[in-house]
Amino acid sequence: MARARRPFFCGNWKLNGSIAESLALATEVRNGVATLRDADVAVAPGFTALYAVAKRLEDGPVSVAAQDCFWEEKGAFTGEVAPAQLADVGCKHVIVGHSERRQLFGELDAAVNLKARAALRAGLQPIICVGETLAERDAGETLGRIQAQLDAAIAEMSDDDLSHVVIAYEPVWAIGTGRNATPGQAQEVHQFIRARVATRSAPLAPKLRILYGGSVKPDNIRALMAEADVDGGLVGGASLSAESFVRIVKEGSAA
Ligand code: 13P
Repeated sequence: MARARRPFFCGNWKLNGSIAESLALATEVRNGVATLRDADVAVAPGFTALYAVAKRLEDGPVSVAAQDCFWEEKGAFTGEVAPAQLADVGCKHVIVGHSERRQLFGELDAAVNLKARAALRAGLQPIICVGETLAERDAGETLGRIQAQLDAAIAEMSDDDLSHVVIAYEPVWAIGTGRNATPGQAQEVHQFIRARVATRSAPLAPKLRILYGGSVKPDNIRALMAEADVDGGLVGGASLSAESFVRIVKEGSAA
């Protein structure tokens, strides 16, 4: 059966890699997916390697994402990076609201919304992350938590804005732990996210791409992608090896 949505796989390299290492990894990924026609592929290097990697990948099938951005366009905000600056170095997407930003750097739902809307204004595609902690899951609060994060993140967006958004469901307990959500657990939340977006815009919901993230590996992506509402992967650790990331993309888009 044909997929309802084009699969999308993004490697989130987190805090890893010199410029030379990032260029080598990006080049290997590009070469590995060169013949692939049925998926979108992106990599998210660290800020310092973005320009070099974007130049290297220019005109190829792999696009570049940043891992975070600020919501103001310019001004006295020492250390911050504006979405327009990311577009300027060649980024097409930006991850916002990653759980590591929320948990380690105190990023709140309202900030995630400001960042996502600023990204859209600059012509970037925001990849908005939502996900519950283990304590929230154990307390039966998963869907409530996802709803709150999602509602806040897409507040005050127009339908046109929403049509450019990608959502990533990343259960915090599955990130970097080797313990991925089961396909059933992922599907339950993905379906919930799509239904929730449908209450905002019924025509857009079926087009929304919802990625799963959290210990995605070459040997579990197929089962995850077999679920109706799983449209791709946001891959951390396994994207630091071109060989395993390319296998994830190929296995996942063939599922
Ligand atoms: P891992 O794939 O290392 O679990 O990380 C997932 C993630 O946080 C991607 O953004």
